[in-house]
Order: sequence, then structure tokens, then C-alpha cells
Amino acid sequence: MGPGLDDGYTEGTAKTSEWRTTPLWGLGLAPGVQGGNYYLLHDGRAHSIEQAIQMHGGEASASAGRFNSLSQTDRGALVTFLKSL
Ligand code: HEM
Repeated sequence: MGPGLDDGYTEGTAKTSEWRTTPLWGLGLAPGVQGGNYYLLHDGRAHSIEQAIQMHGGEASASAGRFNSLSQTDRGALVTFLKSL
């Protein structure tokens, strides 16, 4: 996931920037059990879905780039979809 999400700690055979791809179902329900806030990614550093997507690096950086090039309306539609999962 690139240097931004590299925490320098190894787990098993995973490199320090490799993370399990998180299932996104139930994403919209997360704030309901976290005091109304989002704490996304492996260390909870992303406080919104938009931030989590924008922090994707490495193999996922193209997806983050495509998200950033969407119009505000299309970004909103994607986030609404993700919250519905
Ligand atoms: C538009 C496409 C994508 C969207 C909307 C998306 C969305 C997200 C979101 C919201 C999270 C945080 C989930 C959570 O913490 O509960 C996440 C995490 C993650 N995503 Fe994606 N993602 C996309 C593409 C990708 C791609 C292409 C890859 C891999 C090549 C990827 C790999 C990961 C990984 C490994 C994590 C966990 C990272 C960590 O825990 O630090 N994602 N994604």
C-alpha cells in the first residue's frame, strides 16, 4: 500500500507496507459503534471514507487517483454507495 501506510512492523511473511484488503460491507454502520466517528485503515488514521481512499498508495494508488479525478457529485455518489454496503 506504499510508503504512506508502511508502519515498519512485519507480520508473518507480509511486508511492512502490505495489508489485508479490508471487506467493505457494513462500512456505513461503523460510526454507529465508534462514537459517531470513522477510524479507518489498519491504525484508524482515516476519519472519513474519502480520506481512506486518498491514503491508498502502492498498487492501489491508481484507484485513489481515479477517485480524486471524479467530480464532487460522483465522489459523493461513490461514498453513498459504499455506505450502503
Ligand atoms: C475505488 C476503489 C477502492 C475503494 C473505494 C476502496 C476503499 C477502501 C476503504 C474505504 C478502505 C478502509 C476500510 C476500513 O478501514 O474499514 C480500504 C482499505 C484497503 N484497501 Fe481499498 N479501496 C479501493 C481500491 C483498492 C485497491 C485497488 C486495493 C489494492 C490494490 C485496495 C486495498 C486496500 C487495502 C489493503 C486496505 C487496508 C489498508 C489498511 O488497513 O491500512 N483498495 N479501501
